[in-house]
Amino acid sequence: MLALTWGSYAHAQTRAAETPGPADAAQAKFNLLDRTAPSIESLPDDQYGKLVRYGHELATRTYAHLGPEVKNDKMRYTGNNLACTSCHQENATKPFAIPWVGVTSTFPQYRAREDAISTVEERINGCMERSMNGKVLPLDSTEMKAFTTYIHFLSRGIPVGAKLEGSGTKASKAPNRRADLVAGEAVFKAQCQVCHGENGEGKRVGVKGDAQGYVFPPLWGPDTFNDGAGMNRILTAMRFIKHNMPQGTNHTAPVLSDDEAFDVAGYIVSKPRPVKASLERDFPARWNKPIDAAFPPYVDGASAEQHKYGPFPPLADMARQTAEKRTSDQAQPAAPASR
Ligand code: HEC
Ligand code: HEC
Repeated sequence: MLALTWGSYAHAQTRAAETPGPADAAQAKFNLLDRTAPSIESLPDDQYGKLVRYGHELATRTYAHLGPEVKNDKMRYTGNNLACTSCHQENATKPFAIPWVGVTSTFPQYRAREDAISTVEERINGCMERSMNGKVLPLDSTEMKAFTTYIHFLSRGIPVGAKLEGSGTKASKAPNRRADLVAGEAVFKAQCQVCHGENGEGKRVGVKGDAQGYVFPPLWGPDTFNDGAGMNRILTAMRFIKHNMPQGTNHTAPVLSDDEAFDVAGYIVSKPRPVKASLERDFPARWNKPIDAAFPPYVDGASAEQHKYGPFPPLADMARQTAEKRTSDQAQPAAPASR
């Protein structure tokens, strides 16, 4: 079971290590691909409806409520002017653009980054500290409740524990070579620069300081996700980019080939961005650290370079062997206790 997921250099081995058990086989499957996203218009104006609407507003215009440029400095929780929906596209409902649909049904879940069971709130704060380069939202804040209530609304009707088709990002095969940053730059110039800017700086709605965010979000530089974010891992970025970029692309008709997506993702992660403190504390169970988490320590003896740019298939093989060895070690019958 582990081997299958490792084999696809899966969307972060975070999920691969979900400790599948016998109950797994009976898990309900739920397909997000042909499900129409529920509309907030249909909600009454009661307390639940109001909080869902506020959650939607926070997700789509994060910079205007929680960003570093908002007037009330107590509300400056994010360190950049992105919106959650800069990545979680289409109001966080688009399949394979890491939709929030069904998240209420799949959490609490095991997360390798913490080597612990994580709640929806902790997952939201994971993106607050990394993707948004900010600080955690207090658990009892209205804003945290608004996020979880919006996610709850999007997840209504999906059974608890369901296995979702269309969640996360869609698998793609990393070529067995190091990312070619020169080729990546050429892809960037041809396919991305028109929106994201020559220096990856994006395009603002208005001017710096107005808390109005971006028409096209920045991909690197000071105002974007930090080096601890999932999008700063080349394989996660590759999967997201291949099935969602250039804007308008979806998983049914990718514009970029695997090679192009891999190289342009390499080019983006090679660029400077905010630095997250204490990254070495991530993935405390070292054996299931994702192979593209490009910060030490590494237990497989491969270089930081290789973890950042590949080639990945050899790292995936090593990781698979480690996982299989652990499984078989755990499956050994315990030696009979001697008297
Ligand atoms: C720069 C891109 C980016 C931004 C901006 C971003 N996220 Fe994420 N988010 C990700 C990625 C990538 C993942 C999945 C990582 C993985 O597991 O591979 C994720 C995962 C999640 C998940 C879990 C989804 C699942 O299927 O399990 C939640 C919930 C979430 N983010 C909430 C938020 C919230 C709330 C915000 C805004 C405050 C936000 N994110 C902003 C990139 C982003
Ligand atoms: C037509 C304009 C356009 C083009 C071309 C385009 N993007 Fe985007 N990109 C966007 C927009 C807009 C978003 C925010 C999400 C949304 O609104 O759909 C985004 C979001 C992103 C994000 C996540 C948010 C962030 O700030 O990191 C990444 C990564 C990304 N694009 C990479 C690329 C790459 C790589 C290419 C070229 C292969 C590309 N984009 C081409 C418009 C574009």
